[in-house]
Amino acid sequence: MGPSKDIYTLAREPTETERLNAQHKQLISCIGYTLHPSIVATLPTAPKVAELATGTGAFIIDLAKELSPDAQLDGTDYSDAALPCQGQLPSNVRLGVADAKQAPPEESTGKYDVVCIRYINPAMMPEDWAKVAAHAAALLKPGGALQFAGMGDFTQVKTVLGEHPGAFTAVTERAGRLGLASLPHASWFVSNLFSVLVEAGFRDMRREVTTQDREPGSRSVFTKMSAGAIYALLRQQYLSKAERALGEEEVEEMRRGMDEEARKGMYMRCDLHQFVAWKKG
Ligand SMILES: C[S@@+](CC[C@H](N)C(=O)[O-])C[C@H]1O[C@@H](n2cnc3c(N)ncnc32)[C@H](O)[C@@H]1O
Repeated sequence: MGPSKDIYTLAREPTETERLNAQHKQLISCIGYTLHPSIVATLPTAPKVAELATGTGAFIIDLAKELSPDAQLDGTDYSDAALPCQGQLPSNVRLGVADAKQAPPEESTGKYDVVCIRYINPAMMPEDWAKVAAHAAALLKPGGALQFAGMGDFTQVKTVLGEHPGAFTAVTERAGRLGLASLPHASWFVSNLFSVLVEAGFRDMRREVTTQDREPGSRSVFTKMSAGAIYALLRQQYLSKAERALGEEEVEEMRRGMDEEARKGMYMRCDLHQFVAWKKG
């Protein structure tokens, strides 16, 4: 079977690579850990970790610094556009191309202690989740752990009353609505992932939810990143000549409008969902 249809609607280009790397740092500081402490507690001394949809590899490269040098970390993504070259990687990290919606090769199955998947939800249709969960289970050893991270709707637009009375949100709300039109199922996992994981043979599922605006000091940074993501979506719609895409000038105008609203106190937030689960052993 060939690769699945690529429905990821964010562009893969240098500005996006930069945004994903910055977003990674910010998310880790907000969430408070790279690998969930309940998983760390079960790791063998030389764990094997796989990451699906690794993007720029930022997560797995950082994780390598926290694990023993004998750990093996393998990250894959549908596209190699954002992957750093092998020479820039720690010697125990390997990055390559693989489609998470396709069954993993036999030599990788049952090999890993941990599988991580973060923020693949923009590329998922409801029917894809069962496949990806089954592929994660196939990669794991019996008793191995899955960590999944996903964002809820990142266009929840707020102003902090009292702090910024009179801040406008209309441009950002409209841009968010238009941008997210190409990601209609991005939040599907929020209500459905537990049952998908049970079906795929996981047990002891846990979910931790935190919010991006937990630390007031990071609100403006997240807002900048979320506005950047909306801009990337709108731009990609324009570049791919999608139906009802805005024109280039309108997209740029929206970006300026979002920046202006952010300067005046608007901020965006979303819930950050961290799931952990163990493969039945
Ligand atoms: C929002 S980015 C997140 C990247 C990274 N996990 C992170 O947290 O920074 C989503 C990533 O999913 C990848 N992706 C989309 N569809 C995929 C698929 N079918 N298999 C593997 N990766 C996929 C994209 O290429 C992109 O790098």
